[in-house]
Amino acid sequence: MSEKIPADYTPSADLLAGRVILVTGAGDGIGAVAARTFAAHGATLVLLGRTIGKLERVYDAIEADGSPQPAIYPMNLEGASPKDYEDLALTLEKEFGRLDGLLHNAALLGTLTPLHQYDLEQWAKVMQVNLNAPFLMTSALLDLLKASDDASVLFTSSSVARQGRAYWGAYGISKAASDNMMEILADEVETNTHIRANAINPGAVRTTMRARAYPGEEPTKVTPPEAIMPTYLYLMGPDSRGITRRHFDAQ
Ligand SMILES: NC(=O)c1ccc[n+]([C@@H]2O[C@H](COP(=O)([O-])OP(=O)(O)OC[C@H]3O[C@@H](n4cnc5c(N)ncnc54)[C@H](OP(=O)(O)O)[C@@H]3O)[C@@H](O)[C@H]2O)c1
Repeated sequence: MSEKIPADYTPSADLLAGRVILVTGAGDGIGAVAARTFAAHGATLVLLGRTIGKLERVYDAIEADGSPQPAIYPMNLEGASPKDYEDLALTLEKEFGRLDGLLHNAALLGTLTPLHQYDLEQWAKVMQVNLNAPFLMTSALLDLLKASDDASVLFTSSSVARQGRAYWGAYGISKAASDNMMEILADEVETNTHIRANAINPGAVRTTMRARAYPGEEPTKVTPPEAIMPTYLYLMGPDSRGITRRHFDAQ
């Protein structure tokens, strides 16, 4: 069962003031806009991604907005080892001592192809970035999330997670499993922590990934990332306190 945030939701300007939020895949697409939007509402952002030039552009945009100074954390989720996640946790512990928000946004589309033709190497890459990375990162950062008095963990879902669709292969399967991981985490942290976990299905959004999946589509006819930010703000901030283990559609 999926749901939407209240239609009249209006986030306050300082909704995320004082919060430390990590966004994966923060250099492009939805992640870049989410990072800039969270910062514009007062959060200190940790911009994690694999292409430093893109992260730097988002950093500059956040600075130009006059938002709190962000931090860049370059990390390629495809090859990251458990030690890399430990190092990330140690760095955040040293710099901030806690984590108030975690948006699992980075993902690989992989190839759209019949299951029986799916390339094994491609399968492993998609599973590593879309499924294993959120698992490893959440596990490594759990103590920092516990140190917050209101932590929100957001997983990024997809329409093809809810119902299997031909040719979506590793991507669809990884997203379905990620939805399940959200529910497991939400259950496990429900008592004795201030952590909540929810999933957002962005819907069709104008990004590089969308253009790759639907090359024939006219991009200007697709919703821009800015338009889905109310759902991201609502679930990341205090207005959704007490809401956990739920599946949201951003459109
Ligand atoms: N756009 C849509 O219509 C749509 C629909 C449903 C769900 N989603 C989901 O929404 C999220 C964002 O998608 P998007 O459309 O914004 O995609 P995008 O434009 O392709 O952006 C994905 C981001 O993830 C990063 N990333 C990919 N592999 C990585 C790796 N190995 N290590 C670190 N970062 C990595 C990319 O970095 P680089 O820029 O360096 O490549 C990029 O910044 C994804 O979880 C996607 O599955 C999107």
